[in-house]
Amino acid sequence: MHLNALIGNRPMLDLTNLRKDLNEAYDLKPNPELADSMQDIYQTMDRVISPADWAIYAPYVKAINDLKKERNAVILGHNYMTPEIFHGVSDFVGDSLQLAMQAGKVEADVIVQAGVHFMAETSKILSPEKTVLMPDMAAGCSLAESITAEGIEEMRAKYPGAPVVSYVNTTAEVKAASDICCTSSNAVQIVDAMDSDTVIMTPDQFLAQNVANQSKKKVVFWEGSCIVHELYTADDLRAYRELDPEVKIIAHPECTPAVVAESDFTGSTSGIIKWVHDNKPSKAMLVTECSMASNIADELPEVEFAKPCNMCPYMKKISLEKILYVLHTMENQVEVDAEVAVKARQSVQAMIDLSKKLGL
Ligand code: 13P
Ligand code: SF4
Repeated sequence: MHLNALIGNRPMLDLTNLRKDLNEAYDLKPNPELADSMQDIYQTMDRVISPADWAIYAPYVKAINDLKKERNAVILGHNYMTPEIFHGVSDFVGDSLQLAMQAGKVEADVIVQAGVHFMAETSKILSPEKTVLMPDMAAGCSLAESITAEGIEEMRAKYPGAPVVSYVNTTAEVKAASDICCTSSNAVQIVDAMDSDTVIMTPDQFLAQNVANQSKKKVVFWEGSCIVHELYTADDLRAYRELDPEVKIIAHPECTPAVVAESDFTGSTSGIIKWVHDNKPSKAMLVTECSMASNIADELPEVEFAKPCNMCPYMKKISLEKILYVLHTMENQVEVDAEVAVKARQSVQAMIDLSKKLGL
């Protein structure tokens, strides 16, 4: 295994040696002829990926798709993956809830998680018999890193008897210490379904405040935040709208309540995609991670996507090269302690069951 450092207790990949290994095993040189023969895939992203870049990506896309068959593997790609991953190699794409639901039912021996570490842990928790591979173990999340299981116990001591609803953007230990999970697409409904007037939400303070604004419950929360969404300000959005009154502003609920109040719609990443599909505004500003607009640009040629956007440095650790590497070596297998996994599964499964019951 090529390691050159440790991120927390997770190893970081040594890219120089990884590249050497891959180039010995596969023909990964830029290949315009191969790229031409893969037009069916390219046409899903040709508005945002140049022909020259496609000639670079095509050999990786082919090698990964061939290797997936050999390994009986599927790739679960989050909506924040770059277009060559999202359209080129992912078997299922979606928001955190959709990916968790797929992980529980997908038929394969191997899951490659094209997303961040907590998503791979969730897949392993729901499909313990499958091998779950993380292209880069260092793909963390500022929310998941903001709280530990001790933090959950602190909140329980402060608000005795209140149920703990934890965002899926948490470690398996935090999920295990919680009563139920939620995602951005079901948070309000999950909180409303709790049998208590006060509900503890962790770890995203802004998601919790946005939920509180739509719920009858008293929501108390942990003070974590997403380093991507906390950067947006209501002043920026107002200035943008003044400049371009036609623009529709669509925000993720990890943004501050002030940003949400300035927006035309708020929803999970898949909720945002659906809203743009359904409404087809002439101009849209997606107040979330940059790849979202790139991934739907080809399907929606009539929509002009306004920047700015903010990039997630964790999601962007995932590349075609690293996906190929883990499928080639079967390294970076995600493991969850068996006892923790049983308890964490109860929290995730409770969320999935409730979401299904509520028709979400
Ligand atoms: P969703 O895809 O569930 O909306 O989550 C967004 C996110 O930031 C995941 O890390
Ligand atoms: Fe975590 Fe925010 Fe990145 Fe999502 S966008 S993985 S919440 S840091």
